[in-house]
Amino acid sequence: MTHRYGAGPAIASMPRGGPNATWLNRLMQTDVAEYTDRRDVSDELKQRVIKGLDAMGERASLHEQYAKTALQVVEDIADPRILEIGAGHGRVSEEILKLHATATVTASDLDPTSVANMAAGPLGSHPRARTQVVDATDIDAADATYDLVVFALAFHHLPPATACLAIAEATRVASRFLVIDLKRASPMGILLNSLVMVPMSLAILPPSSILPTMHDAIVSSLRAYSPSAFVALGKAADPRMDIEFLQLEHNGIGPRPMTAVFRPPQARTPVVTNRGSAK
Ligand SMILES: C[S@@+](CC[C@H](N)C(=O)[O-])C[C@H]1O[C@@H](n2cnc3c(N)ncnc32)[C@H](O)[C@@H]1O
Repeated sequence: MTHRYGAGPAIASMPRGGPNATWLNRLMQTDVAEYTDRRDVSDELKQRVIKGLDAMGERASLHEQYAKTALQVVEDIADPRILEIGAGHGRVSEEILKLHATATVTASDLDPTSVANMAAGPLGSHPRARTQVVDATDIDAADATYDLVVFALAFHHLPPATACLAIAEATRVASRFLVIDLKRASPMGILLNSLVMVPMSLAILPPSSILPTMHDAIVSSLRAYSPSAFVALGKAADPRMDIEFLQLEHNGIGPRPMTAVFRPPQARTPVVTNRGSAK
């Protein structure tokens, strides 16, 4: 295994809003963990959050949108080998398999209960899928095993030094690492989004998922990374890392997306459509 991880103290203490975040932006961040990351929380409660995310993704067509974005990133590869990390419910992997006739997918998560649930569902019996417990910071796969690693709505779960390690790991096992996460809002935006979330959650989520999913969504909004933080993390993983931002549409439901493709220096093939720029 080739490790290029190079995060130092500056990255470990970097604000979620990036190296030049304002004091107000720094104030609007937290080290509080989401329920899905806590060891002292029951599997049952964690799965209520995962079900809530699945319901929101279904209603807002996020699973399909993320799957299409992943396939766009590997559109030059005939039979792409894709690893989804932090897959939770596995619905993005399911959509990838529906949309592409020859893609192979490994759907994984750190949480063994989520992986067991994925294995018990459609992914468990699909001939082009497999499921696996995988830690994003220590991926159990040889270099270049995959063409693409996908990480949806989960990057902010990792503190900066760990996020940097995940970039190094994903770009070791694949030539492209697609991160789709929440866009970090302005301090006022974080407050407004939390208010808007209440009626939306009541309308969309299964009743038992409403409170835990809202809890995790609010914590997530305080942990989301800015584009400049993405760049700093990618460059800390490898100073020659290529970081390309993609623009995904937001249909008004669910989090505003923040999407980037990390490519290590030996693998520069830019995505041809929807290209954005770092802010
Ligand atoms: C908010 S959920 C996202 C689920 C799904 N990807 C989606 O789009 O709705 C975050 C997921 O990341 C997983 N996770 C957190 N830390 C992880 C790590 N170090 N490695 C792999 N997965 C991790 C959690 O177990 C959880 O399933």
